[in-house]
Amino acid sequence: MSLTSTATLTDILEPCYGPTVAQQIARYEEALTDFHALYGSGPVQLFRAPGRVNVIGEHTDYNHGFVLPAALDKDVVILARPRSDRTLRVANVEDAYAPLEFELADEIAPAPRGHWSNYLRGPAQMLARQADLPGCDLLVAGAPPHGVPRSVGLSSSSAVVVATAVTLAHQVGLPHATAAFAQSCADAEWYVGTRGGIMDHFAALLTRRDHALFLDCRASPDGSYLTRHIPFPPSHRLLVVDSGVHHDNIRGEFNMRVAACRAGVALLQAAYPHITHLRDVQDVPWLSLAPYLPEVTTARQLTQTGIELGDIPGLEPDAPLHVLRNCRHVWHENARVLQTLDALAAGDTSAVGALLTAAHLSARDDYAISTTELDFLVNSAISLPGVAGARLTGAGWGGCMLIMVDAGAVEAVQAQLGAAYAARFDHPPAMFICQAAPGAAYLGTLNQ
Ligand code: GLA
Repeated sequence: MSLTSTATLTDILEPCYGPTVAQQIARYEEALTDFHALYGSGPVQLFRAPGRVNVIGEHTDYNHGFVLPAALDKDVVILARPRSDRTLRVANVEDAYAPLEFELADEIAPAPRGHWSNYLRGPAQMLARQADLPGCDLLVAGAPPHGVPRSVGLSSSSAVVVATAVTLAHQVGLPHATAAFAQSCADAEWYVGTRGGIMDHFAALLTRRDHALFLDCRASPDGSYLTRHIPFPPSHRLLVVDSGVHHDNIRGEFNMRVAACRAGVALLQAAYPHITHLRDVQDVPWLSLAPYLPEVTTARQLTQTGIELGDIPGLEPDAPLHVLRNCRHVWHENARVLQTLDALAAGDTSAVGALLTAAHLSARDDYAISTTELDFLVNSAISLPGVAGARLTGAGWGGCMLIMVDAGAVEAVQAQLGAAYAARFDHPPAMFICQAAPGAAYLGTLNQ
């Protein structure tokens, strides 16, 4: 949407935030003040990209399987002003230092591992390879409560990647609400070293208000992806609960799971030579696949049999790869996503809930990505009246879980779960209801 010079902040934000717009104004005003202090007065473009919560389909995306995320109303905002050169100046309201500068080029050098600017450098490099971009002055504003909490499985990093990509694409008129763009954003995030999949970027770019997004992560031969916008039953809410245990560096563990899945594919090729991803054996009964998969192996042992796992940053040659159980999770999780779609279509909320809880057990036992705190939250939640099911959400190793709860029971569940958790772990968990928000967008330009 493009707005005239008379547009106020409320005019610009209203179409996106609707009735909650008033809660957003102060956050944008503060960011505008910071932007003007850093870069001087003049027009400012506003962009946003949401975080996401994954309803079901965990660690299936990089196996070309199925996922069902929803975008959150918590988002990363970027304020931008194009420049006449090829310099990108980037600042972050959460980092009080002067802006960092780098040149837009086909190869942009990374900052040290873990630095926030890498989530801008990756998409900048990706788009600089595709288009003749102008430089820009940028300010990232993604701090909670309206921003996406970091390192808790709600995809704050992909929200920064997508917000940056949408900002830069806008400068040259590249459309962003497309599968091809989402795929490029996922590729751009590999810049930081984690071998994640495409779910977060599709969720951030292509979701609709009040809907989850079913995505088949296997592209069709023409490059298109199957997506469906899935309304959630009005009788129930998705309550997101942050365990407060955050693992900042899960890259090593994450990449070991990627390696185990790739190992599974390589070993299954003995019987199914044409497969490239676990998805390709989704129609084969699991019990026919299991005999090909070892309980545990290592990259070194695989190399000795002629199997190479490809580029997986940080993978130790002797790290144990739990091929059988990791692949078992992926195969069954894909089946659960499809069963969830059927149960949602049939309005069978107790079946949906049971699938969520089953997904948690599989993530805990077969993918080994849960924690004591998340298990406690899930076990406590499913014993409460009105709860249909519960599971960890996101990559795992801490962070958030999600509860499907009857709308009338939300407050009681929040109170009882909060008290039980605080009694056991000495701090109350943060909780919020998922309001499925629209995808990333250019909101408008403020002339000041
Ligand atoms: C992270 C990755 C996603 C996905 C999830 C697990 O969020 O970025 O691509 O693999 O973990 O489902």
